[in-house]
Amino acid sequence: MNAVQRWLKSLESRQSLDAVAERLRARVRPFLRERPALEKALRGEWAGHAIHPMIITLPIGCYSAAAVCDLFGRRETARHLISLGLLTVPGAVVTGLAEWSELDLRQRRVGLVHAMTNAASSVCYLLSWRARHRSGDTAGRGWALLGLAAVGVGGTLGGHLTYAQGAGVFRWSDELAEAVGEQPEPRAPFEDRTAGGRHERAAKPGGS
Ligand code: HEM
Repeated sequence: MNAVQRWLKSLESRQSLDAVAERLRARVRPFLRERPALEKALRGEWAGHAIHPMIITLPIGCYSAAAVCDLFGRRETARHLISLGLLTVPGAVVTGLAEWSELDLRQRRVGLVHAMTNAASSVCYLLSWRARHRSGDTAGRGWALLGLAAVGVGGTLGGHLTYAQGAGVFRWSDELAEAVGEQPEPRAPFEDRTAGGRHERAAKPGGS
């Protein structure tokens, strides 16, 4: 196991993240439970899978394109792309929170760090946007580079969540789960499913 894998793994068992994670979940979960139509929309019932991975292509695409524009001196276009990227962040946040609030304990820990890293990237891009309007391009480019680095770390954490921890996998497809040998389970209350931090198949939107 290399250093990156060790760090990602260590986050899964970091209990110091639980207090903040639980406070956040205690706000998100009841809010969505009382609004099943909203929860289904945010968690992608219409697509048949989570829509967070689709939405996040917007800020990531804008920020990456802005970096290329900066590289080739297209400052004005870079500024517009950063504005556009920032406008798409709320969509990434609400879809991410809706998914995250249904994950198990270990996934929620990694998800919280993922959310904080992406919050840091948004702050960097806000500062970049402001600097480009006020103090000049050099500071703007510096903040954008930091923001892109944070997006990279956030993406690594998001990838760990999805591909190593299986967050969001098989939520919609009992047939697929059966095909790989996992039996569809009767739905237990959310708290039972997450007790002890075991990895369990998460609930379908509105299904708990
Ligand atoms: C600008 C903000 C954000 C960006 C750019 C972003 C980016 C990503 C990326 C790249 C992945 C991996 C997707 C994949 O490879 O399948 C991911 C997954 C994930 N992210 Fe975010 N994220 C953002 C905000 C958030 C927030 C605020 C949360 C809430 C905690 C969150 C929760 C999740 C979850 C639960 C996953 C696992 C896959 C899923 O169920 O959709 N994200 N994110």
